[in-house]
Amino acid sequence: MGQPAKVGHYDRLYASGGFGYEANRPRWRAWVGQHYIEAFGLQAGERLLDIPCGDGFWTSVFAELGFDACGVDLSPGGIDTAWQRYPGIAFAVGDAEQDLPFAKRSFDVVFSRGITHLHRPELFKDSSLRMARNLMDYVRPGGLLLVSYYTKRDGSQPDRHAQHPVSDLVELFETAGDVFKVEVIDNFVQIGVQHRDAPRTLDVSAGDGLARRLRRGVNSRIPTAAGIVRGRLPLKRR
Ligand SMILES: C[S@@+](CC[C@H](N)C(=O)[O-])C[C@H]1O[C@@H](n2cnc3c(N)ncnc32)[C@H](O)[C@@H]1O
Repeated sequence: MGQPAKVGHYDRLYASGGFGYEANRPRWRAWVGQHYIEAFGLQAGERLLDIPCGDGFWTSVFAELGFDACGVDLSPGGIDTAWQRYPGIAFAVGDAEQDLPFAKRSFDVVFSRGITHLHRPELFKDSSLRMARNLMDYVRPGGLLLVSYYTKRDGSQPDRHAQHPVSDLVELFETAGDVFKVEVIDNFVQIGVQHRDAPRTLDVSAGDGLARRLRRGVNSRIPTAAGIVRGRLPLKRR
């Protein structure tokens, strides 16, 4: 279960502008195209759950790139901001360790960027194990849990923010599924996890030059978020 003090921290952060990603949207959109979509063989049209979605920025980028994306976060302040900023996308407050308002095994992709558990000094706590298993429970057979996390991989703990080595992260997610791909880009680690009993067919050509076009700013073939997601998402506003 999430920690109330942390929720307050993130509520305040999102109310005061969050992490500021929106100011660099083209750069981050290209990053998503290259390091998430192309690297892990995601395909536009896939149903994607972003958890924790924070104030919805990354959910909105996936939606812009044609994904059937929705977001969940423990922070009500984050979700309020997401609703205001991205009205065509469904967001809900929810706990990554508990039941979510979706059918189990129903998402092509569960995307988890920077979830708080991975920054805690003690990585192998019950809460982290519960979170990893729970997120995997929402991945369809043949689908993917894509974890993304910032770490210098040196075990340091600046500001009580642990920077775990890749091997520890892999070990954690191996308790929930089969880690089939790991990429380290700068200090961002991406981990792809598939079901052991229903592995993913990796299609690395799926991006169709998307990352290259995004880097050049040629994105006219990419549908807008509102056009793609309106009326098709399962969540309702509170
Ligand atoms: C570092 S932020 C990352 C947010 C976003 N994914 C990003 O990359 O900007 C960590 C987020 O994890 C959320 N969080 C922490 N514990 C959670 C839980 N048990 N369930 C869902 N979200 C949680 C926090 O509310 C916060 O929004």
